[in-house]
Amino acid sequence: MKSMTDLISIARSLFSTGKGILAADESVHSATARLASYGIPASEEMRRQYRDLFLGTEGVEKYLSGVILFSETLLEKGNDKKPFPKSLAERGILPGIKVDLGTEPISTSPRELITQGLLDLPERLAEYKKQGAMFTKWRAVVRIDGDQLPTAAAIHENAKRLAQYAKEVQAAGLVPMLEPEVLLEGAHSRARARAVLEETLGTLFSVVEEQAVDRAGVILKTSMALSGSESGKKDTPEEVAEDTVGTLMQSVPKQVAGIVFLSGGQTPDEATANLAAITRKAKEMGAPWPLTFSYARALQEEALSIWSGKEENVPAARKAFMERLAKVSAALG
Ligand code: 13P
Repeated sequence: MKSMTDLISIARSLFSTGKGILAADESVHSATARLASYGIPASEEMRRQYRDLFLGTEGVEKYLSGVILFSETLLEKGNDKKPFPKSLAERGILPGIKVDLGTEPISTSPRELITQGLLDLPERLAEYKKQGAMFTKWRAVVRIDGDQLPTAAAIHENAKRLAQYAKEVQAAGLVPMLEPEVLLEGAHSRARARAVLEETLGTLFSVVEEQAVDRAGVILKTSMALSGSESGKKDTPEEVAEDTVGTLMQSVPKQVAGIVFLSGGQTPDEATANLAAITRKAKEMGAPWPLTFSYARALQEEALSIWSGKEENVPAARKAFMERLAKVSAALG
């Protein structure tokens, strides 16, 4: 059984210099939609090839400290005939696993979502651990709509479940990554985005403290503070950095093992430039935690559009993936 000291050092190792995390944990439903958006018909084998495109790229260990997998992938083999978690671990990349079971509408506020998956979590954690997972992720979703959403009740209920998840994961000897994603979709202003991020993270960490989760052993996965995608406004990287790092400094306890960012629908170039500005600002402000990326779309997009599901495009797609990884890694300063 791993001690808390072991868990803290595993969490910290995800922040090795110049490295970050690939989120490759799309559910079957999300992976099907992702592939369809590139005109790629989905099947179990196509999803396996989709995973192999990224996980099988030679040299990714230079930029990746970890990969978040979906339960289906944890049991599959790459084209090298090795189980994905094993081939990652052999290259020094920690395999992680998404453990939430997705979201459903809240009965009293049906446009808001609550994350499912606590019921059989201890049993599933024991299985994932046997299958090679070292860390885990739970995603909650926060939707902004003017002054109406999010409701305080939805933020609080999602925070309670994130904290409960973190407690169970630590008890199982794994590292929890808490992801309260504030959605980019919406017409909200820069100020509103910042205020919601502040409320979300403030609530989360007060519940985490109430429930006596060991904060030194948790990773926060957060959105950047960004004006809504339908606001007609594109914030500069400096604005994004000021709002994001300012909020984190206010809301996140210094003990937290580290903070990773999701890309949330930003283009690969935006997610790279914003990360660079955030890491600069964090240094300037003396932020107490290590920071890195944990992107899905911003790391995958260029490679997927080249790949298009065709074997002959794999080398060019992998080259584009490596080029994006190099840029995102350089953004860490
Ligand atoms: P994006 O980088 O595409 O937002 O995905 C990250 C993630 O893990 C979402 O849950």
